[in-house]
Amino acid sequence: MSAERAERVRAERERAEREKRLAAEAAAELVAGGMTVGLGTGSTVAYLLPALARRRQSIRCVASSPRTRQAAEELGLTVEAFGTLDHLDLTIDGADQIAPGGWLVKGGGAAHTREKIVAAAATRFVVIADSRKPVDALHPPIPVELLEFGLPVTLRRLAPVALRDVPRSPDGGVIADYHGDVGDPARLAARLAATPGLVEHGLFPPDLVAEILIGHGDSVEHRTIGGSSR
Ligand code: 5RP
Repeated sequence: MSAERAERVRAERERAEREKRLAAEAAAELVAGGMTVGLGTGSTVAYLLPALARRRQSIRCVASSPRTRQAAEELGLTVEAFGTLDHLDLTIDGADQIAPGGWLVKGGGAAHTREKIVAAAATRFVVIADSRKPVDALHPPIPVELLEFGLPVTLRRLAPVALRDVPRSPDGGVIADYHGDVGDPARLAARLAATPGLVEHGLFPPDLVAEILIGHGDSVEHRTIGGSSR
């Protein structure tokens, strides 16, 4: 790699990290004392956790992954098992792709099953991202979590699909990625959801999403999608 190219890559990476931090800090401002808060998973959420901890509010959190739980607890946040709360006020999480209408692809970190449960439990689901995440149209790969039982049959039904070389989910699921065309995300989501053996897929519909905060350089774009509120 030339020195010039290496410098460009370094500057882009630095910009993306700044954008993630700004979006995460803007989302932390939405949290008020007394709230129940769902915490997503990933490198953008990694900026959210210290921003929440700095606010020193009395909040009760639910984590979408063991990684997030551990990081949040190390920062002094109160994290509860998701057996104790039947509703969350606000969930904040990252995304891998954001389509113009609010459809998302999630699961790059293999946590999409629990992330969808935590998002769907919230009155307000807020997505935080850097400026590389918006896309004109969703594209593969689409993460999926599968049951081990009957795995070869499930893989055949889902083809083209590839197993991902990552550990199982905390719920014992096998992580894979669907590599076919996305086309209409609602139609693909319905097809994936109807496949026996598929635990959850990484397509998140707009009616789950209240707002999207996207870092752009030194500012944050707020998009209102209008979903959530269950
Ligand atoms: C994990 C996810 C993450 O939210 C998604 O992959 C975005 O991650 P990052 O903030 O690191 O870009 O869905 O399963």
